[in-house]
Order: sequence, then structure tokens, then C-alpha cells
Amino acid sequence: MRVLENITSVKNVIRSEKARGARIGLVPTMGFLHVGHMSLIERCVKENDITIVSTFVNPAQFGPNMDFDRYPRNIDKDRAMLIDASVNYVFHPSIEEIYPHGYNTWVEVEKITNLLDGASRPGYFRGICTVVLKLFNITMCDTTYFGQKDIQQALTIKKLINDLNLDIDLTIMPIIRESDGLAMSSRNEYLNPEDRKIATVIYKGLSTAKNMFLQGESRASELILAVQDVLTTEKNIHIDYVDVVDMDEMQRLDNTGDICCIAVAVNLNGTRLIDNIILEKQSPTPL
Ligand code: PAJ
Repeated sequence: MRVLENITSVKNVIRSEKARGARIGLVPTMGFLHVGHMSLIERCVKENDITIVSTFVNPAQFGPNMDFDRYPRNIDKDRAMLIDASVNYVFHPSIEEIYPHGYNTWVEVEKITNLLDGASRPGYFRGICTVVLKLFNITMCDTTYFGQKDIQQALTIKKLINDLNLDIDLTIMPIIRESDGLAMSSRNEYLNPEDRKIATVIYKGLSTAKNMFLQGESRASELILAVQDVLTTEKNIHIDYVDVVDMDEMQRLDNTGDICCIAVAVNLNGTRLIDNIILEKQSPTPL
């Protein structure tokens, strides 16, 4: 596995890989890898000749009061995991490499980014879309992998690919959870043992709503109330949002229809946690 830190070297190696006909897969991450990330990476390795993983903690998607400085990092552990997974290249650029002095071009995808994290975190999706489009251009990837864990991000990137006519296949992978249901996340690292237990109410709330849906409840208001009821059993949980949205444009729904998503964001003693569940009448279709 080769670690690449500058754009020119990525472009050079990828150009020569492409010249021999290799199919290039990219998994964008911010490092501090866990089993959730690895599910995307393993699928990428399986489906492509060359896998490149980026581990850039992107300052542009962190607001001024967010956790950019304390975001967990462990480059050595990440590299060991990536070697084990047979990844070919890691791209770990400096901030100046991605955003040199005078950098001034930003990518915005409208509407789908209006609610949920887009509403709670101004500039968040602008930062994500910009860095992801740059990573697509730098790596010249044929295919990319995103997690349902960040469903609004994955569907926003799908829209960006479509709207900008990029020749990139995007695969959205299921949420990998801990055995007690908590969605794996680099930010779970911030939780002390007590908060770690409290955090399990998020998936409990979503599962309660899913059971109600499977028993015929289709009113978004009732499903939202049910999730809120479970979340508020824990006084340290502060709800940012609980919303029922459609799977195309992430707009609010009054009624679930055949398929929708319940998305949740909470703050637990200063740690922001997000999760979601897809409610689908038929057997699940790949996203
Ligand atoms: P990061 O939070 O490191 O996540 C990288 C990818 O791993 C995302 O597509 C995310 O949805 C996926 N992922 C995280 N936890 C997961 C889990 N429990 N199960 C399955 N997949 C999971 O998302 C980002 O980084 C950044 O915004 C990025 C796209 C790299 C742009 O900076």
C-alpha cells in the first residue's frame, strides 16, 4: 500500500493504473476507521482493480464551533487496517494541499440539503460537496462507496453526480451497528461509558417507529412522536431533529408512502450523534 500526500502523485499513479485498464474505486473517509468504514472499503476492494481511500479531515465541513480540532485521528492504526484490507493507495493530504491560499470555489447542491443536517449545520454540505468533487477529480475514480449512516450526504452526492454528469457509480452501503444497536461512528469515541449506554436509545427509538410502521402506522407525526418519546426517557439527550423524509429529495412527508426515511440527530453531553432507518413496505431494494 502506498501513502500519497499530494495531488500530483495521486494523478500520476492513477493515470498509469488507468492506462493499463484498471477500474478505480474511491472510498472517501475522514480516517479514525472502524468496522463501518471497513464495510465500504472491503466492498470497494472486491469490486475494483484499484482501491484508493482518502483519510482527509475536511475543515470546510466543520462549523466554527464544531469539533474539527478534537476530531479523533489515528493515522497509524488506519494504515494498518487499510493494509489488512488490501487497499492499494491512501490519500492523506494536508489542508494546504486541498485548500491552497486563495482557494475560492465551492459546490452547493440545493433542496436536498435544506433540512436535517443541512438545516442544523450551515455550510456543512457545501464543505462536503466541494471536497468530494475534488476527490473525484483528483482520483479520477470510476466508482465510489458511501454509507447509509449519513443518508443525506450519500443522496446529496448521488444528486451531485447526476446533476454534473459525472461518470461515477455510487453504491450506498447499509449501516453497521454495535451489538446493542448504536450505529458505529468515529464520534462514539467521545462518549464516556455512561453516555455510551444512554446512546442506545437512538436505535431503540428508530426501531419502535419501524415496528409501528410494519403494523400499519403511516402518519409521520405519530412515528416522530414515538421516536421522541423513547429519546426523552433520557434527560441527557437533547433532540436536534426527528424527521420523516422522502428518499429522493429528503423533503418532509406527512405520510410514509411505500418508502421513506426517519432521520434523527441528538446531542448527548456535547456529542452530536446521527442515525436513521429506512421504512419500506416491500422487501428492501438496494439504494
Ligand atoms: P466519515 O464520517 O469518516 O465517513 C466515511 C464514510 O463511512 C461515509 O460514507 C459514512 O457514511 C460511512 N460510515 C460511517 N459510519 C458508518 C457505519 N456505521 N456503517 C456504514 N457506513 C458508515 O462522511 C465523511 O467521513 C465525510 O463527510 C466525507 C464523505 C469523507 C467528506 O469529508
